[in-house]
Amino acid sequence: MVAAAALLLFQSMSESSWLDNYNWLQPIGEGGMGSVYLAEDKRNGNAPCVIKQIKYEYKDLASQAEMIKVCQREADLLRKLNHRGIVKFLDDHYSVEGLYVVMEYIPGSNLEGVMNKEGPLDSETVVRIGLQCCDVLEYLHSAEPPIIYRDLKPSNLMLRPDGLVVFIDFGIARDFEPKGPATRVVTSGYSPPEQYFGKPEPRGDLYSLGATMHHLLTGVRPKPLTACHPAALNSGVLPALDALIFQMTSHDKDERPPSARAVQYELFRIYQSLHPDFEIPDLGIEEEFEEEERERREELRTEVRLRRMRNPRGTSSQKRLQSEDDDDTEAGGVAGLFARFKDWVNNITGRQ
Ligand SMILES: Nc1ncnc2c1ncn2[C@@H]1O[C@H](COP(=O)(O)OP(=O)(O)O)[C@@H](O)[C@H]1O
Ligand SMILES: [Mg+2]
Repeated sequence: MVAAAALLLFQSMSESSWLDNYNWLQPIGEGGMGSVYLAEDKRNGNAPCVIKQIKYEYKDLASQAEMIKVCQREADLLRKLNHRGIVKFLDDHYSVEGLYVVMEYIPGSNLEGVMNKEGPLDSETVVRIGLQCCDVLEYLHSAEPPIIYRDLKPSNLMLRPDGLVVFIDFGIARDFEPKGPATRVVTSGYSPPEQYFGKPEPRGDLYSLGATMHHLLTGVRPKPLTACHPAALNSGVLPALDALIFQMTSHDKDERPPSARAVQYELFRIYQSLHPDFEIPDLGIEEEFEEEERERREELRTEVRLRRMRNPRGTSSQKRLQSEDDDDTEAGGVAGLFARFKDWVNNITGRQ
């Protein structure tokens, strides 16, 4: 009893000294699990950072243990990841008052906020966002064991002012154990069907990316468990992009593209159709595979064309595509943020 009281006292003392390491500035996000604060790290020249505080009920030991597990999982995952498209982990702290994860501050806005402000995005902008997401997913899926992100949606992606996309919120990503039991976590509209039965696998992230791109192109949250067909809502969506998203959000995971790299390759091809001088970087994809994919895509395009003939065209007010000239700096709005897109492409194989 005395030992327990001493432990509590010790924990709250270490808590107050830990909290003092930061200037807490303002809340920037409120989610189901806790709050996200903008802060400054006093030990690092008041550098801006973000602290995610996860509150739990101390009296309920079982839920406390579960919360600590989720938080530690997020911290452990972030600690070992190193990719410019993934928020960097800085510190963590566990105490009787709550759990804290400290991350680098990503300037800009999450993509849900961007969409609320700008309305639906044009095909080219969504292709650039999708290309960057594929790079992060390929990095996560190639980890040993593979990491499935499992919560890809606009509010979990930050768009920095220089156009770089950064994944935040690793709360439910986990190391993938093919035979192990999986935690059942779903977000309606973005989660693939198999995740509802607790069987996440890397191609589930491709489904969520397809659903996210559909949302960005149309401003409409995708219907749960339905293959997305953004051109039905927005006739300005490029047919090849529509076909790719349709394939990515297929109910049957074997119908989806085989990997994030394969999706990235296809997105590069779409980008190239807008900028004929653009050279697709070597992604190490076999020629044979490319041929197979091309045939499959052609069949899908035909299917989408047929669907469109049956379905009246969408009416959404999509912004016009950017000019065909490869000039990122002239574009306004969100597209104008992509000044560094060429650097990103040049670095694609030499990521930091
Ligand atoms: N590192 C960060 N830099 C800037 N903003 C962030 C950062 N982390 C979170 N946010 C903001 O806070 C919101 C909620 O954060 P998130 O980690 O997704 O928590 P939740 O578990 O509540 O979904 C995000 O949508 C984003 O706008
Ligand atoms: Mg989130």
